[in-house]
This record gives sequence, C-alpha cells and structure tokens, in this order.
Amino acid sequence: MAYRLRTRSIHAGQPNDPSTGAVAFPIYQTSTFAIEEPGKPAAFGYARTDHPTRRALEDCLASLEGAEHGLAYASGMAAINGVLALLRSGDRVVSTRDLYGGAWRIFTRLYAKLGIEFEFVDSTDLEAVRLALRPETKLLWLETPSNPLLKITDIAACAALARAAGALTVVDNTFATPCLQQPLDLGADIVLHSTTKYINGHSDVLGGALIVRDRALYTDLKFFQNAVGAVPGPQDCFLILRGIKTLPLRVREHCASARVVARYLETSGLVGKVLYPGFPDHPGHAVAEAQMSDFGAIISFELDASWEEAIAFTKSLRLWTLAESLGGVKSLFCHPATMTHASVEPDVRKSVGISDGLIRLSVGLEDPADLIEDFEQAFESIAARRSVPCAV
Ligand SMILES: Cc1ncc(COP(=O)(O)O)c(C=O)c1O
Repeated sequence: MAYRLRTRSIHAGQPNDPSTGAVAFPIYQTSTFAIEEPGKPAAFGYARTDHPTRRALEDCLASLEGAEHGLAYASGMAAINGVLALLRSGDRVVSTRDLYGGAWRIFTRLYAKLGIEFEFVDSTDLEAVRLALRPETKLLWLETPSNPLLKITDIAACAALARAAGALTVVDNTFATPCLQQPLDLGADIVLHSTTKYINGHSDVLGGALIVRDRALYTDLKFFQNAVGAVPGPQDCFLILRGIKTLPLRVREHCASARVVARYLETSGLVGKVLYPGFPDHPGHAVAEAQMSDFGAIISFELDASWEEAIAFTKSLRLWTLAESLGGVKSLFCHPATMTHASVEPDVRKSVGISDGLIRLSVGLEDPADLIEDFEQAFESIAARRSVPCAV
C-alpha cells in the first residue's frame, strides 16, 4: 500500500527494531561490522560504504521524494560535490544564475579549474535555457525557489529541454522540501538537499542528500561517495530522521506564518520590494502555483534604508536572529551580500540582482504575531533615528 507523505515521514525506512522492539530507529554507533567468514556477503561491512542508521535515513528520504535510491552526505556541499564528480574535463554544466553562493564557488573556483565549463543563465527564461544546452552539456542545474531571490523555474519545461539535449537535470529542492515540490515527478533526474535546513529543521545538524530513481546513476554516485567518504555519522543521521518525522507539519506552519509576515512587510514604509512567490504579482507565481503545493517560508526584501540604518535595524531585532542558514524552528535573517553570497564576486552579485540592501528571512515557528511585533519595533527605531534633529 502506498502511504501518504505524512505517514512515510514517520515510517519509511524505519521499522521498529526487530531484535529489541525499539520504536525509535537505533543509532548504531559503530564503524565496522563483524563478517561471518571471508568472502561471504554481509548486510554491512564498513560504515563509510553503508551503515544501518544512515540507510534508514536514505530510504526515508528516497521515499519522500518518490524514488528508489537515496544517498546521505555530511553536508549539502558534499552532496553537490557528489554530483559534480560525475563530470569529466570538457563537459559543460548549464546552471541557473541565482543560486546558493557555495554552489557558485565550487563551480567557478574548483571544478572550472578541472576543465569543466559552466554557463549561468536565467532559468526562468526557457529560450535562454534551450540555447545554452549544447551536445557537451551533461547537467542542467536548477534551484527553485532560488537562493536568495526566490525566482521560480519551471522544472518540467526545463527538464524536458535537458532530456532532449541529452543532459541530466539536477534540482536543489532545499527551499521547497519534498512536502511542497516533487522534482522527480516533474522530470528531474537528481534531487539535491541541504538536509541542514528544513529536513532536519532544528538548526543543530549539517547534512546533505541526493535522491534518484535510476539504478545506474545511483551506482555511480554511490561509488564516488564511498571512494571519497563524505558521509554523515550515525548520530547526525538519527537527528535528521527525528526531524523528518515532523517535516510535513513544520513546513505547513512555516508556510502559513510566511504568508502573514510577507503581507505585513508589504505594508511597511521602510521596505522596498518584497520577494515572495505567494504574491500574485511575483513573476514566478503561476509556475509556483502549478508545481508547488505552497509557496515556502523564505522571503527576501529590500530595506529602504541607509547602510547605518540597516545595521541599526539588524541590531534592534530581538526574536529574529542574524545567522547563516534557514529552515529551522527559530526565525533567522541574513544579509546575502556579506553572508551566504559573499563568495560571489560583487559585480556578479549586482548583475544577478543581489543588492547590498537585500535581507533574506527564514520564517520559523514562533507565533507570527510576535515576529511581526519584533519588526514593528525595529522599524520604529529607524523612524525614531530619522526624526532626531541634526546637531548644529
Ligand atoms: C539551497 C542550498 N543548497 C545547498 C546548500 C549547502 O548546504 P550545506 O550548508 O548543508 O553544505 C545551501 C546552504 O545554505 C543552500 O541554501
């Protein structure tokens, strides 16, 4: 019987322990496993290759994305590296332009040096994607909603273009989670997650994942993962598995609060443009409505303030924490230009649209009324500074 997502988030890959009846999947804190006799196949041999707690997490993630195969990594960046290791010198990657700064950095500063060519396009422009795909293109790299501009790419249309050109489509599904968006059903070949974010959801673990349906692709990814050893430990796998059990409930509440906060920000005099795919006038709203079941809980906005005022604003927030990362129960905000996207050259940032006044919010699970009141007092503190008469 095919269970629904909420049920799978609790049960998939995690049966009650047959030897003890333990309801919580055990943390097998071991690096190696006894083998009965030389040459005889065993369920597990060495923890870098495969590990029961990690496998439970991998099976659960695969199930949530509607796939057969999952691979858990030590971080989202390790998962990104796992995909790039499929490439050879001379291969090309077409990537969305607006993407996580760390992905940009590994593309341009590491893999470009190894002879892999990267072309960055606005993936919301299907004609630009079509023109960029050439016979040497092996991967089409998408991030939607994108980090930090919340651009929405039509996954099905892009994946169809990539398939026709002989390229695989990778979708970084970190912002949406499998609760809101199922890229494999839309034609993607590889789903990528920084499980550090919503999937774990409590800002206490680093992790990454790749999920695929194709057995041969899985075998290639698994070979490289084992060869390099970018795997998470059993405690981290356990914590992520625990986080997943409430993922559908958390994401539902995150989205509901984000709707309220986004509407509030639109009415604030000190905020310029609010980027939130749930607004009907967001350029990607129609595509988001078609391919997502809700609009996520990341909001970006331009603060209509001087640099000094912006610093004062960030310091006067009490509930919102200035921090890297997103997707946890605590609301966080970040300044992409100096934080998540500091590794992107300033002219590139500007051309992509990441201004120095851009603030990215990760709406947590506090009462949204408290989150809004915190903004109100911070905006009031800017207004009060403005009304202070200049000393003569
Ligand atoms: C969309 C996205 N993908 C990948 C990553 C990298 O993940 P990690 O920090 O777990 O290595 C991040 C990190 O912020 C991210 O936001």
